Amino acid sequence: MTQPITVTLAGGDLSAIRAPLVCLALPSNGSTGVTLPAALRGLDEALEGALHVALEARDFRGSRDETLMLSGPAQGPRRVLLVGLGAPATTPVAATNAVRRAAAVSARAAGRLGTGSFAFFADGLTAEQIEAVVVGMQAGAWQYLDTKTLPPEHERKAPVASAQIVADASPATTKAVEAGLAIAAGQVLARTLAMMPGNLCTPEFLATTGQEIAARHHMRATVLDRAGLTKEGMGAFLAVAQGTPVEPYLIALEYMGAPKMETPPIALVGKGLCFDSGGISIKPAANMEQMKFDMCGAAGVLGAMETIARLKLPVNVVGLIGATVNMPSGTAMNPGDVVRSQLGKYIEIVNTDAEGRLVLADLLSYVRRFKPSVVVDAATLTGACVIALGHTTIGVMGTDQRAIDDILHAGERAGERGWPLPIYDDYFELIKSDVADMKNSGGRAAGTITAAMFLKEFADGYPWVHLDIAGTAYTESDSAALARGPSGIPVGLFVEFVRARATK
Ligand code: BES
Ligand code: MN
Ligand code: ZN
Repeated sequence: MTQPITVTLAGGDLSAIRAPLVCLALPSNGSTGVTLPAALRGLDEALEGALHVALEARDFRGSRDETLMLSGPAQGPRRVLLVGLGAPATTPVAATNAVRRAAAVSARAAGRLGTGSFAFFADGLTAEQIEAVVVGMQAGAWQYLDTKTLPPEHERKAPVASAQIVADASPATTKAVEAGLAIAAGQVLARTLAMMPGNLCTPEFLATTGQEIAARHHMRATVLDRAGLTKEGMGAFLAVAQGTPVEPYLIALEYMGAPKMETPPIALVGKGLCFDSGGISIKPAANMEQMKFDMCGAAGVLGAMETIARLKLPVNVVGLIGATVNMPSGTAMNPGDVVRSQLGKYIEIVNTDAEGRLVLADLLSYVRRFKPSVVVDAATLTGACVIALGHTTIGVMGTDQRAIDDILHAGERAGERGWPLPIYDDYFELIKSDVADMKNSGGRAAGTITAAMFLKEFADGYPWVHLDIAGTAYTESDSAALARGPSGIPVGLFVEFVRARATK
């Protein structure tokens, strides 16, 4: 697995920094151009004026994601990278998001150059921003190399192993670095699980990973296999798993951090399809390999549990995932089949590719035994969500406005934003069935909403929010801040949501 980076606070004096690459995050400043912060004057001198010359010449304008590389003189800093923060932030959350992103852009540059380490400066970093910088650094540095042969030694580029932040060490900033590393660790775990091919990240592997998290952090872990699911009467989950000899698993992790044991937990629920072929309603061959990412909800839950435990948040949290694969075979579920869910509701399966909601239906009824205060599920549930919101915004639906608002705010803070979609009762018309209580697909119209309408039938007895992360959990193209592939979403959102409730 990718090694986590180490991050140190290097003190506020830039002239004392020794690093093969120094990254300077600067905001744009409209018509006046980028202004040189006073803290950079010494560095500018060491660079024989190269900084102010570049800024005066408008070679660098500070736009978001913009970069300009300057080479230092023989005696001074070797490489200096200017990184744009965009227009000056108008809110603290926007400022934090901007430095997180600039830190990620910086780490990506260090990775491309193969410098192994780098230093990061942004003017007047607060403790909260330092936490975000650490998260951004790890996000930009992350790569998955486990299944690739390394190039010969002389061609290798050093992966980013360490980074310095130009800021004074204090109890608050030191704690911020630790918190950032805890969030980063959860995201690294989630991204690695997601990136792993389906033959390596199997349902069993997810179960083992869950058990390892539990053992590391003294959580209770419950694992149900096919026999266990059968005993529980989880006919919907089992219908998905019946097409494959691969053992399905339900995994529940119980983190007990609240001062009172009996405090109702927050439940995080994740779809864990280690591969989704579509089943008998098989998907087209083109891009089918991407369906190894169909476990990103589960990966997000596991990553968040790892982070929450590392942060020792004073709150009770249950992490619940359902792991299987969706395959066509002689034993697979067929279109037209009717199954009985754990809750007792009958479901007509009209499309075997709408499998995620079948797994989630039973998870959402199983979770009731924990008497949760709120349940948030995350799933790569619908292609329609990719069409509606693209690759940068999570689809958010639910039954409780306060919980929805808290989720939206948590997403803002984490830089993993969502947007609400309506789940009006009218939409239930689309999933009415002639033979059962509902059918598992409503067709193309409002596909993301009808999926949520289906889940709502099972989210009974607690406030509930559903996150459709089909577009955001992974991307096919690089961005300035993140390499293509899994994004780690929604680990940051989950952690922010839980953290905010922990302090209430
Ligand atoms: N895992 C897919 C959704 C998906 C599609 C995620 C593309 C990421 C990218 C899900 O199981 C699925 O196949 N959904 C169907 C539902 C339909 C049959 C009602 C879909 O979106 O086409
Ligand atoms: Mn599917
Ligand atoms: Zn799926």
